[in-house]
Amino acid sequence: MAQRETWTSRVGFIFAAVGSAVGLGNIWSFPFQTASNGGAAFLVVYLLAVFLIGFPTMLIEFVIGRRSKQNAVSAFSELGYGNWTFAGVIGVFASFITLSFYSVVGGWVLNYIVGSVTGGYLGDASTFFGSVSSGTVAVAAHAVFMAITIAIVAGGVADGIERATKFMIPAILVLLAGLAVWGSTLSGASAGYAYYLSPDFGVIATNFTSIVPSAMGQAFFTLSLGFGVMVAYASYLGRDDSLPGDSAIIVVLNTIVALLAGFAVFPILAATDALTGSTGAGTAFVALAGAFGQLPAGRIIGFVFFVVLLFAALSSSISLLEAPASYVVDSYDTERWKVAVGVGVVAFLLGIVPAYGYVGLFNDFVFNILLPIAVLFIALFAGWIYGGEAVDELGRGTSLGRGAMTAWLWWVRVVVPIVVAYTLWLGVTNFYAGLVNGAYF
Ligand code: TRP
Repeated sequence: MAQRETWTSRVGFIFAAVGSAVGLGNIWSFPFQTASNGGAAFLVVYLLAVFLIGFPTMLIEFVIGRRSKQNAVSAFSELGYGNWTFAGVIGVFASFITLSFYSVVGGWVLNYIVGSVTGGYLGDASTFFGSVSSGTVAVAAHAVFMAITIAIVAGGVADGIERATKFMIPAILVLLAGLAVWGSTLSGASAGYAYYLSPDFGVIATNFTSIVPSAMGQAFFTLSLGFGVMVAYASYLGRDDSLPGDSAIIVVLNTIVALLAGFAVFPILAATDALTGSTGAGTAFVALAGAFGQLPAGRIIGFVFFVVLLFAALSSSISLLEAPASYVVDSYDTERWKVAVGVGVVAFLLGIVPAYGYVGLFNDFVFNILLPIAVLFIALFAGWIYGGEAVDELGRGTSLGRGAMTAWLWWVRVVVPIVVAYTLWLGVTNFYAGLVNGAYF
């Protein structure tokens, strides 16, 4: 048997994982969730969720992936626990549902690229968002975005895009930092910083039950956890890499991109009096397009920004299609391109629903329900079933002491499942309430 490929370098692995993590989740979803959940109150809970739950969960996925050298679906039987395969299948299902609305938001990005050329968003940024974010224009753009995604996956040229993300991440950082600096000069910016950065603990207390599921869902989503992608990526890792070290770098870099997006978005929102959270899913688009409308050479900067964002979105959407497509290829032994087209078309059809104004519904279903379920199962598996071997795998290539590893195991056994189960309970309750009281319709 040929030896399985490993990443040519540790840096290659980290770039791929950061490429998966950085996407619309950081630049679109993070400002949107923060704005709709009370600003800094959300930020505090979100950061706790990322570091206390997301980071140890990433280690679980890395341990399973590196030990089994398999994708998330085959991993469990490779480790000798085939009856846990369903945990990987949930991740594949989450990828498919996510793809359907991720592509709709990708379509918004396409519309903003066109808007940069035509100057369409220069006048009233929120009217422009309204006109492209739902309805036939949105469906058409969603179709184009999905077609590009399918073409890349079917053509097997995903590597090219992933290589391109190496340049995209620095480009995103530079553009966001530039916007953040410019935003700081706007009059009224300080109200934006106050909303974003100075937490009102009263707000956390009153909205605890809605902040927690959103923050936790955002943490899993932005770190690409629960989908099994990190399992698959780690399956190519060498035995002498330090999993905690790599994971820490990925989590920190991803967090920096999200925080920077907030530093760009909130002062601009405040300066344009749009800081009420009422912009909802349009938060980031409205703020950024508003900024491009005022900046000298704003259309050119906007064009570059949205093209870069398109690449970040595509690098995510291709792996979201890849996961269900390779699952079908492995289970039914059909040709790869046919499966990519088939799965992509079904995801497109499903995505017509969010393209008519139900992105929030799909988003909350994934954040509040699918992701906590997926993470709950892999944590229970890693903690209670795989336990000792998981610790053994975590220990390879790291200088962490025995004590730290035992602490991780007990954290994964007890804290992660309790917190995630509680989150799931809140998430299901809120989602159901939303369905009943018409929040989504
Ligand atoms: N983390 C990505 C983002 O923030 C979205 C995402 C979630 C993702 N799960 C994924 C991307 C799986 C690729 C594969 O945009």
